[in-house]
Amino acid sequence: MLGLLAGIFVLARILYAIFYKSYIWETKSSGFDFALSNLRANQRNAYLEHAQTAFRILGNTWTTRSLGTSMIESIEPENLKAVFHADFPTWQQGNFRIKTFRPLLGYGILSANGRAWEHSRALIKSAFKSYTADSTIYEKHIQNLVASLPRSSAEVVDLQPYFLRLTMDISTDVLFGTSVFSLLPGSADFADAYEIVKDNIFKDMQVYPLGWLRDHREARAATKVVHDFVDGFIEKALASADAINEEEDQGRRYKFLRQMATELEDRTKLRMELLSLLLAGRDTTAALVSNMLYILAQREDIRRKVQAEVASLSGRFPRIDDLKRLQYLNCTVKESLRLHPVTPINSRTAATDTTLPTGGGVSGTSPVFVPAGTQFVTSVHALHRREDLWGPDAAAFKPERWANNTPAPWHYMPFLGGPRQCPGQGLALNITLFTVARLLQIYEDILPARSEPWQGAIAVTCWNANGAKVRLVPKDRT
Ligand code: HEM
Repeated sequence: MLGLLAGIFVLARILYAIFYKSYIWETKSSGFDFALSNLRANQRNAYLEHAQTAFRILGNTWTTRSLGTSMIESIEPENLKAVFHADFPTWQQGNFRIKTFRPLLGYGILSANGRAWEHSRALIKSAFKSYTADSTIYEKHIQNLVASLPRSSAEVVDLQPYFLRLTMDISTDVLFGTSVFSLLPGSADFADAYEIVKDNIFKDMQVYPLGWLRDHREARAATKVVHDFVDGFIEKALASADAINEEEDQGRRYKFLRQMATELEDRTKLRMELLSLLLAGRDTTAALVSNMLYILAQREDIRRKVQAEVASLSGRFPRIDDLKRLQYLNCTVKESLRLHPVTPINSRTAATDTTLPTGGGVSGTSPVFVPAGTQFVTSVHALHRREDLWGPDAAAFKPERWANNTPAPWHYMPFLGGPRQCPGQGLALNITLFTVARLLQIYEDILPARSEPWQGAIAVTCWNANGAKVRLVPKDRT
């Protein structure tokens, strides 16, 4: 009898899905099945494809539940504009983000909403405004990177962990005025502790809201190490501010941190904002640089074009102004961020009852009512691969598509958009363009290790599970 009832239920669900497919798709389950299927896909490094398939089958907007939370998933530009821009005050960073980030970042920009966020945002905006990008800072760390890489083209090297150290060294140099020099031997204390803390955030996210059941002793100790380090950097920067003249080299070096310190007396809050910037910027930039080197090694046609363009610099290292002029390289970075966005999933929670402009009704284009507490989730990965927005070749890596082409608003959002758009976009692009150009200048060639597919592994940032494995051919091959 029970089997018969279950059979009728399943049949009814299938008929419902077939005949009412144009209605917003909905499941009445508690969402354990949904959460489990996501977890399983993630374990296989196939979460992004899993989500993309769901949009293909269920449409561009659909609702579900995950572990008891109501969710609405959408890759409709109109809905993205509403959530991230037009109806911005309603859609907040949810507890998922806030509670998992808070032990490391307190009430810093990444884990704040409302007035607290506005304050953080203004502070960071003014620090970026006062800061002048200078590629000589990057060059110093590129030299340390190259010194630590294998010298023989016979050796396969996965560049991903090296780029993590590179971006750690550049980020701390720019933000704190003092690099942690994790690429140099014997100076990895801060970087090691930071890795433990970051890993802990990701593990808490995976099991949210059950993170409190995990053992946090190691993470707590590592958090203290990270906090003490940053406090030390702050003291050093502020002490030097008293001792030296603004015009001197030291004054320029600490510009970012000191600008923030002049507007923020609370030293704990200052530490949290600096760490928020590090968390937001370091891994993301490393992932982008890794993706770039992966694709350049795999695709000789693209590599040759970028090499030819970089050759126009006649071997001198690029100044910031030169970077924008490397047009084909810029197109390749945009294409990398389209097919492999490093923050491919984004979410918000509705603070009050609201509506989304599209995705409901029989036509699938009517507004959708959204009760307070609903989580909105988007897949930037799936959005960037929609054939109706990007053409039938949407899945192909083609930097040429960017020549004289600006995407429509909310069709392309690797740095998000609206009031919470990434404030570090310029810095991230400068570091990426510089690193790629320099490696192509320094090495005779960068060859693929083997032909492995790009596979998204999602942690706090999205990585290629197969790494960025290459063989570096030195100029003076012996
Ligand atoms: C390739 C590199 C980067 C990518 C793809 C990226 C992307 C993003 C995205 C998608 C967001 C929105 C997240 C959300 O609200 O849920 C964001 C926010 C943010 N990013 Fe970036 N980012 C990058 C590098 C950087 C760098 C280098 C910095 C600074 C050093 C930075 C600082 C921030 C901050 C502070 C926020 C929070 C903004 C706010 O909530 O108002 N990012 N970034």
